[in-house]
Amino acid sequence: MLTLALQGGLAGPEDTALILHDLDRLDARAREALAAFPPGTLHAVAVKANPLPPLLRRLADLDPALGAEVASLPELELALDAGLPPGRIVFDSPAKTHGELRRALALGVHLNADNFQELERIAAIVAETGPPQGPVGLRVNPQVGAGAIAATSVANAFSKFGLPLDQCRDAIVAAFAAHPWLTALHCHVGSQGCPPGQFVAAARAVCHLARAIRAAGGAVAAIDIGGGLPATYRADDPKPSLADYAATLRRGCPELFAGPHRLITEFGRAIHAGAAFAAARVEYVKEYGGVRCAVTHLGADMFLRPCYNPADWHHDTAAAGPDGALKSGPAVAQAIAGPLCFQGDFPVRQAPLPALDPGDWVLFLDAGAYTLSMWSRYNSRPMPAVLGVCAGRAQCLKPRETSADVLRFWHGA
Ligand SMILES: Cc1ncc(COP(=O)(O)O)c(C=O)c1O
Repeated sequence: MLTLALQGGLAGPEDTALILHDLDRLDARAREALAAFPPGTLHAVAVKANPLPPLLRRLADLDPALGAEVASLPELELALDAGLPPGRIVFDSPAKTHGELRRALALGVHLNADNFQELERIAAIVAETGPPQGPVGLRVNPQVGAGAIAATSVANAFSKFGLPLDQCRDAIVAAFAAHPWLTALHCHVGSQGCPPGQFVAAARAVCHLARAIRAAGGAVAAIDIGGGLPATYRADDPKPSLADYAATLRRGCPELFAGPHRLITEFGRAIHAGAAFAAARVEYVKEYGGVRCAVTHLGADMFLRPCYNPADWHHDTAAAGPDGALKSGPAVAQAIAGPLCFQGDFPVRQAPLPALDPGDWVLFLDAGAYTLSMWSRYNSRPMPAVLGVCAGRAQCLKPRETSADVLRFWHGA
């Protein structure tokens, strides 16, 4: 793909880094989700994982059962701009303002409230403006424990998200009985590092709660199980498929698939991560004190999590020559440094790659999720061009930022 981009004239000498999306792979992953879950399921793909408009539009056009999970007003506008009707958009966020709630209720997106205070705000707006145009749900914390990564585990005994089931069960049941427009339950266990058993336990907890709500006169027309299916970042990691995940849920909690409710998922990483890689050109190579270090053009600006928390986050790498063809040769342990002004700027601290030379490329694999979407403005480096390849043809999805773009960002003009 990199060779295709370099030879096809889509990238030039000024492109010190590139992001390359395999659009066929993205489609295939989305189709896997569609096939794994019952017809009628809405797969609201998490925009936070990758907000690139051409990808949002591609998913929106691929199938009417694909939508977007959004967690801010701009993410909501991105989803609408991609052509998604409000009925295929799910709005989550623990900090929605009055204005955001009004916009969401008037539009008719699926709105998941995070807590009782937010429910009160919604009730006040509904009293003033009439019934919501779309479904309203409530996020619960199923308290099934933390996964392997503390910072992305949100179903601990305490979480900043949702209402803890143990402490709030009766009040949740009462809220559904009191508000006829409250008709959906939402949970999300965590992102990467959560074992299958936790998803099953969460599904059981939510289905159990749905039964209690219905018994008390409330309605649960939709259950949103969130995202969290891990992506594979190391060649020897298990590769959980969406079909395996759905089968595990079905076995562990048949009611989730058989109840009188619509299912909603919010996968992000599982759809996007494996569909892209990033390429950073090697500018210099230093070898002192037994350490060989390649200084490249992507660091914590794009790989925030691996740089700041390398124990939890990792990308496999590959090496390519100046023409983009994969480099061969004996593997040498090399540090891959980014271009930013701090010593922690190593997206990969030890990569076993053929010896890198200036002008080569380092490829960071499985870079389609939570990478560009977390782009940092530190050192004001321009965002690289994003290319997409589909059926062997490369196209530009987003041009490389210029210095003028960065100036505009800081000026706010
Ligand atoms: C509420 C919610 N839904 C969905 C997701 C997507 O998770 P993942 O990309 O791991 O599937 C997240 C990620 O943080 C989230 O917070």
